[in-house]
Order: sequence, then structure tokens, then C-alpha cells
Amino acid sequence: SIKTIKAREIIDSRGNPTVEVDVTLASGLMSRAACPSGASTGIHEAVERRDGGARFSGKGVIGAVTSVNNEIAKALAGMNAADQKAIDEKMIALDGTENKGKLGANAILTVSMAVARVHAAADGVSLFKSLASGPYSLPVPCMNIMNGGAHANWQGSDFQEYMIAPVGAPDFPHAMQWGCEVYQSLKSVLKKKGLSTGVGDEGGFAPQVPSNSEPVSLIITAIEEAGYVPGKDICVVLDPASSEFFKDGVYTLKTEKRSLSSGEMADYYRDLTTTFPIISIEDGLAEDDWAGWTELTKAIGSKVQLVGDDLFVTNTVRISRGIKEKAANAVLIKLNQIGTVTETIDAVRMAQKEGWGAMISHRSGETCDSFIADLSVALATGQIKTGAPCRGERVEKYNQLLRIGEELGSSAVYAGKSAFRTSM
Ligand code: PGA
Ligand code: ZN
Repeated sequence: SIKTIKAREIIDSRGNPTVEVDVTLASGLMSRAACPSGASTGIHEAVERRDGGARFSGKGVIGAVTSVNNEIAKALAGMNAADQKAIDEKMIALDGTENKGKLGANAILTVSMAVARVHAAADGVSLFKSLASGPYSLPVPCMNIMNGGAHANWQGSDFQEYMIAPVGAPDFPHAMQWGCEVYQSLKSVLKKKGLSTGVGDEGGFAPQVPSNSEPVSLIITAIEEAGYVPGKDICVVLDPASSEFFKDGVYTLKTEKRSLSSGEMADYYRDLTTTFPIISIEDGLAEDDWAGWTELTKAIGSKVQLVGDDLFVTNTVRISRGIKEKAANAVLIKLNQIGTVTETIDAVRMAQKEGWGAMISHRSGETCDSFIADLSVALATGQIKTGAPCRGERVEKYNQLLRIGEELGSSAVYAGKSAFRTSM
């Protein structure tokens, strides 16, 4: 049973405070988890509680830490760590708000993750095995090798993420190898063109580019120069994160000096997916543009995976509306958008039951916690995005997947293209 829960403030990959939690069992066994943090957060996400005031420009998490050390620790003391659902429900009830704003989703989630981990440790099994009973699969690593939008150092592209998905690799280690080779190849391509090779928040390159399609062209060149076939070996995955450039019904592409309606954005994506081997587009439209999403899905959803991130915020209420309105065909899954491990798993299962894709995701602000690697294998989502193969907090998740693959040995299944809702 749970003996003590101790939280502290630590620093994330962007130099902002975040919550870390140690859960100790009566047996003396201790496990630890840390909370990630987004930059282009959806307005419907669970609340990340910050202190405000002058300290850390208002971003301190002393309040959330104190809630863990007092209310939450007291409420969970003596509970069985195996009972994840009861523990998560207890915290939800203790918070009492719709969006976990009282205690903070950062307080609740970090405890929830640490509990899952200490339960696995008590059972003497790896986290992924403890989270679900299988079947397991190793996900396609969608590596974000060019960063724009809110994740870049300056206004490079309007679109936030340009990822490569080594869908044709025979197994996960080869997928990593191919992805890393393309990353190095892209660096050379950029250097040759005199473009910056400085990196953004997720480890991808962030040069100034003249259009939102230029990064895709550069990536295709990099794939070819690394000796792979675009569309067969390696496909492209986009996250425009369009809520960031949507206002009053208009999508403004500053890089291209253009303003488009939802319908024109759909045409834009149709052209892009005709020209390039793009298998997945996330947040192609904004978080409350439901009608636009339904139109977009009707237009290209049979060919391309359309992933709702800000649209669904890992929330089953919003996902079920999306299913009803045929507003997408896949969900992005971020633990801290909803705030407990139990609710996160519910969101994945809802998507899978519908035959939708589910992509497990990091946040742009991260720590070296690799929980999401285990989660993706446990739920066999077949897809994960956790940045470029660059920056320790990104690479740690990929390295954890390499370790899990080793543990699974010859029974390791690499998801490949079948994980994506695409006809390409
Ligand atoms: P965020 O970005 O973590 O900054 O919200 C990730 C995403 O939009 O997928
Ligand atoms: Zn996104």
C-alpha cells in the first residue's frame, strides 16, 4: 500500500518549473514521475496549475507541489497502488472541478503516473506490461525534424511540426536508424543551402523558410540523399497546430502572406498530400472548427490520417462528439491534457474501438520521464511522436522503446504503416 507521496519542483526542457513526484510503498519501494508541459496548448485542456506572481515569471508550481504533499498524500495514504482506477477517481473527486483546476492537472497526473510505475515495480514487471496485458506493439516513431510555429526560435513556418515516419522499416531499431540518418542528412541539406541548423523546442531544425511546404521539400531531399524512398520507406507527418494561426474564422499563413477559410485550408491540404507522401495531418483545422473538420474529413479522410489534438484534448466527451460528427479519424493522446492515466487509457480505447488511429505524444516542454514510451507499447497504438532524435528529453523516450524492444525480443511487433488510417 501507499505510504508516502512527496512532490517537488524541478525544471523542464524549456527552463520552466514542473512537478516531480515520488511515491513510496509500505515495503519501501519508491518510484518517480515528472510532468510535461505544452506551449501550443488547447483551450479545452485540463488546467496546468501555475503560481503566478514574479517568481519564475509566474510559472512556479509550488501550489501544485503543496497540494500533492498535503491533500493528495493524505487522501491516498494506505491505498493499494494496484488500484489505479480508484486512486485516479479519488483524486478527481478531491479536486471536484471539471478541468482539474483546483489541485492542478500537473499535480494529479504526476501522482497518477508515479503510482502506475511503483505498482509495476512492486510486481517486478516493466511498466508497459503492468499498464495493459497486450497484445503489444512497438510504435512508428514520428520524428519531428523541422520545428516551426510556437516551437521555433523565430517565425520560421506557420506550421509547427514536420515529422518523418519510417513506416517501411522492418523493425523498431531500423526505424530509429533510418530516422537518425535522415536527420543527419537534413542537417547537411540545410548547411549546403546556407540555412540555420539551430534547433527548436522539440529538437528539429528551425530555419527561416519562404513557405509552409518548403520544409516538406527539404525533408524529401534529405530522405533521398540518405538513400531511402519517400512514401515507401519513410512518409511525412504534419502538425500545423492551426489553432495557433486561426482567428475569427480565418487561417492566417504569415509565411505566405495569405488568409484562408476552412474550405480553402482543406484544398491546401489536398494539394499538399497530392504532391508529397504525407500520411497524417494533425490539427489541420482549429480546436472549435467542428464543421470544418467534418468537411476536411469528407474531403481527404479516406486517404490521409486526420488527427485531432487541440480538437479532442484526450477527452472522451470531445472524442465521442468527433466520432458522431465524423470530424477526424484519429486522436492525439497526451496524458497531461486530461490529467490521469486511467482517463488517458479510456481515450485510447475509445478511439481504437471506433477503428480510429491513436498517436501517443510528448509535450514541447518535457523532462527525461519516458512514461509515454511504455504507454504506446502497452496500448499498441502503433504511433508515437516524441520529437527529433536530438535533445536528451526527446531521445530518452526513443531509447526506452529500444529497451522495450529488447525485452520483447523475437515477439516484438513493429506496427509500420498499418497503424495509420491511410490508404496510401
Ligand atoms: P505542445 O505542442 O506540447 O506545445 O502543445 C505539441 C502539439 O501541438 O502536438
Ligand atoms: Zn499538436
